[in-house]
Amino acid sequence: MRIACTILIILLIVSISCKREVISSSLPVPYQLNVPANFPVLPVHSDNPLTNEGVELGRRLFYDKRLSGNNMVSCASCHQQNLAFSDGTALTAAGVSGMSLRRNAPALINLAWLDDGFFWDGAAPNLEAQAFMPLANPDEMHQLIPGLISELKAIPDYVQRFRSAFNSDITDAAIAKAIAQFQRSLVSANSKYDKYRRNEPGGIYNSEERRGMELVQIKCGGCHAGELLTDNIFHNNGLDSSFTNTSFDRIFLGRYRITNNPADIGKFKTPTLRNILLTAPYMHDGRFATIDQVFDHYATGIKNSATLDPLVKQDNGNPGIPLSAVERQAILVFLQTLTDNVFITNPKFSNPF
Ligand code: HEC
Ligand code: HEC
Repeated sequence: MRIACTILIILLIVSISCKREVISSSLPVPYQLNVPANFPVLPVHSDNPLTNEGVELGRRLFYDKRLSGNNMVSCASCHQQNLAFSDGTALTAAGVSGMSLRRNAPALINLAWLDDGFFWDGAAPNLEAQAFMPLANPDEMHQLIPGLISELKAIPDYVQRFRSAFNSDITDAAIAKAIAQFQRSLVSANSKYDKYRRNEPGGIYNSEERRGMELVQIKCGGCHAGELLTDNIFHNNGLDSSFTNTSFDRIFLGRYRITNNPADIGKFKTPTLRNILLTAPYMHDGRFATIDQVFDHYATGIKNSATLDPLVKQDNGNPGIPLSAVERQAILVFLQTLTDNVFITNPKFSNPF
């Protein structure tokens, strides 16, 4: 009886301590994503909550060239931290094939708040789905997923990191989740503008900066709206007058490619104005090399078409947003306050290798 009891107690202790061990080693630590006080509520991503382990794994995958077919291209080849995760090129040819892409690589800023589709036409419903598109695209990373999984499985560090982040083997879903988590951690909220909005030290605007902000709110804020400086939806801002080029799966027709609704022809997603002076060239095809050319476009270059947005028309119906030289200068000075040097130098977002 005593022996039986002792054995039972020993068994109990062993099983409790085993259980505790399994639990503590398998539960990743929730990631503290500090929502800036001036930001909107963070959309919930309950199917893929951010964890320290997941974000760190995602960072490694984002910077790892082994994710591409020729092991020479990583996500960071086209999304560079010092350029707010854009690439400084109109149409990059940095992908595996060396062929020019047909769209400009956008900056990756505050993506955790964007929930109306990714890519210029919103083709990817969320960041989890988005990751496979550059991976599989022959002109980007040209990596077949089964090959990628066996390649990563041969790297013990990754096997262990997937285990601790997702308690899982290396799978396509876990790869996508990790990369999505890292991208959601890319919060930019330390510009002079943010300090101004939060009444923090370093956030005092002079009269020209304040005037520039007001002008942007009035003339541009219908689309580059709110604290994110984007309304996260699709507009035709007058870049082209005709949309007849249907080649390459209608990529030049904008949102229409996804919805098949003629009212969406020529509409592209409003990019944020945050860090805008770091992310030239501009527009979905990088057609404008400088911010001056962007101002010229809105002031005098707007092209009329059936889907042109009323917000880029004047009261008399003519296309264009009038901008005087003084106004342009004030807007430029305000845009300078949107550069976030903490974001582009944050070691948590940099290359871990
Ligand atoms: C060869 C260059 C290249 C590589 C490599 C690349 N991208 Fe991109 N990325 C682009 C281009 C170009 C676009 C715009 C495509 C479009 O809208 O049709 C884009 C768009 C995106 C977007 C959409 C952003 C938004 O606001 O809609 C995300 C997110 C993104 N890339 C993440 C990644 C990730 C993650 C990887 C690695 C798995 C990656 N990219 C690899 C060029 C690249
Ligand atoms: C009708 C909505 C709308 C208004 C008003 C508007 N924009 Fe835009 N803006 C957009 C859209 C949509 C794009 C992307 C268009 C594309 O690439 O096809 C864009 C692109 C830009 C870009 C390029 C961003 C990048 O990353 O490539 C800049 C800079 C810009 N706008 C500044 C302004 C300024 C300054 C004003 C006010 C003078 C303004 N916008 C008014 C919708 C608007």
